[in-house]
Amino acid sequence: MSTGQKVRFPPPSSRVIPVTDPTMPLPLDILFDPDRPLEIEIGCGKGRFLAARALKFPETQYLGIERMLSRVRRLDKKACRLKLDNLRVLRLEAFYTFYYLLPPHRVRTVYVFFPDPWPKRRHHSRRLFSPLFLDALWNRLEIGGTVQVATDHLNYFTEIRACLSADPRFKEVPAMERTEEEQTEFEHIFRQQNLPIGQCAFQTLPAEEKALPPLAIDPEMEPRNDKESEHFYGFDEENENG
Ligand SMILES: C[S@@+](CC[C@H](N)C(=O)[O-])C[C@H]1O[C@@H](n2cnc3c(N)ncnc32)[C@H](O)[C@@H]1O
Repeated sequence: MSTGQKVRFPPPSSRVIPVTDPTMPLPLDILFDPDRPLEIEIGCGKGRFLAARALKFPETQYLGIERMLSRVRRLDKKACRLKLDNLRVLRLEAFYTFYYLLPPHRVRTVYVFFPDPWPKRRHHSRRLFSPLFLDALWNRLEIGGTVQVATDHLNYFTEIRACLSADPRFKEVPAMERTEEEQTEFEHIFRQQNLPIGQCAFQTLPAEEKALPPLAIDPEMEPRNDKESEHFYGFDEENENG
């Protein structure tokens, strides 16, 4: 690593990315080394999987997105204790983050393990996987990048696999294997109980680039100009601990 990079990517005192304004696009090239791969886990919980991977693959950079504060704090503590300088955590809603705050085609792998299944039919609209999420997912993954999915909710699994299979921008590839240490918290519990788990993986294919259609959200929540981001996601000590 060059001296310049050392100055640009200092090990932060907390691995939590400070968010003072959630409408600011994430300046990934400031938060992460643009020359190293970036992988994201959506709904990373306490980060059992992510921390194990970050320890095993120090050259790869990992971002966990998790909306529950207590879980974000647990992962932060673990990452600091293990001195994982290649792992950061973002406390934001993942669909919004993917749709609005990430740059195009930067992420090598997206992991979605045991997403909330919202089993009641009237709650299905709250599920992460939808045609709009697939648009954002394809757009944020590198071409040739992969999404890895696992869930114990087999109906949801069938639905996720069907919607990815029906989308010509994705092709199915073998799902990853995880060692015992790499299993997520939920997976660890379910495997101990011998519960069935559905797993699949899909790779992105080249396709026509289309702008993501605007969502019907409060204008206050629409993202702002990229250039303003640096002030909000800077690395100064005060911001880092804020
Ligand atoms: C069922 S738990 C699974 C946690 C972890 N992936 C595991 O397998 O142990 C789902 C996690 O996703 C988080 N989550 C659900 N929807 C989310 C969203 N839209 N944005 C960010 N986090 C979300 C929840 O807070 C929870 O920690």
